[in-house]
Amino acid sequence: MSSQSPYQPGDVTDRNLALELVRVTEAAALAASRWIGLGKKNDADGAAVDAMRKAFDTVSIDGLVVIGEGEMDEAPMLYIGEKVGAGGVPMDIAVDPLEGTTLTAKGGPNAIATVALAERGNFLHAPDIYMDKIAVGGGLPDGVVQLDAPVATNLRELARAKKCDISDLVACILDRDRHKDLIAKTREAGARIMLISDGDVAGVIAATMPNSLVDIYLGSGGAPEGVLAAAALRCVGGQIQGRLMFENDEQIERTRAMGHADPRRVFTCEEMAKGDVMFAATGVTSGEFLRGVKRFGHGAITHSVVMRSRSGTVRYIEGHHNFAQKTWTPT
Ligand code: FBP
Repeated sequence: MSSQSPYQPGDVTDRNLALELVRVTEAAALAASRWIGLGKKNDADGAAVDAMRKAFDTVSIDGLVVIGEGEMDEAPMLYIGEKVGAGGVPMDIAVDPLEGTTLTAKGGPNAIATVALAERGNFLHAPDIYMDKIAVGGGLPDGVVQLDAPVATNLRELARAKKCDISDLVACILDRDRHKDLIAKTREAGARIMLISDGDVAGVIAATMPNSLVDIYLGSGGAPEGVLAAAALRCVGGQIQGRLMFENDEQIERTRAMGHADPRRVFTCEEMAKGDVMFAATGVTSGEFLRGVKRFGHGAITHSVVMRSRSGTVRYIEGHHNFAQKTWTPT
């Protein structure tokens, strides 16, 4: 926080930004929902980004995008380093206006519009590269699973902590060729698997939901998605560890330039999302986590969640939207 700022750390907790944040994710989800199943993932993403960007103009924060749609020269809007908001408390913003572009294009499950917010300097600055991740839900001993431990050890320790057999556990893993070995080892250890085609923010959150079938999230996905998932876990409880995965020296240098002296180390949940964090998401297509947008003549119904780490409050919000009365129209 800058010395000139009239705001003190913790100020955000005195203001209820929850509804304002949900308006932002609702706007993105409503815009993306127009493109469900049309086979045009870039159009769906563009619509979500555009709507989210506009919605931020009404939020009373001095926001800085630290996890966004790419670097300034790669993205027209919501790029890393962009300022958003109508002014107020200096905040870090992490966005994924459409998490699950292909899911949306195909009408598949679990596409969400999502955003997280923390006081300035509290989110891990991560480039848009892969991150190896492991995540489990709340109420388990600290460090029960470790990114660097063998899969069989993690599953054995998790089963012990949950007082069940390994065969009772379900691991959520992105269905990718790069996960062949991980999938084989998970099966060999005796656990069951839920393979998902996309959407690992929802996959990680699923591991923390009490009624979910998923017990553990394993494997690599986007680093930005890792930070967003960590923000959610700070609010609902749970553990996540992540390590950035580099394809070349340029990526390592870029990460060093973002302030990481040791870019290859494992980041904990708190290192990815510190302080008082808020996380909001609105379903675009239906999944275990949230229901998708239901459109009808002149309106739509949305389902969203907004959470806050300091209070641990999780609010589910059903929004009934009348497009004729909105100051903007979702296209
Ligand atoms: P997009 O919404 O950008 O398409 O990302 C979807 C996603 O499945 C993420 O949830 C995940 O982190 C990432 O893609 C995995 O990347 P890849 O498809 O290259 O394996």
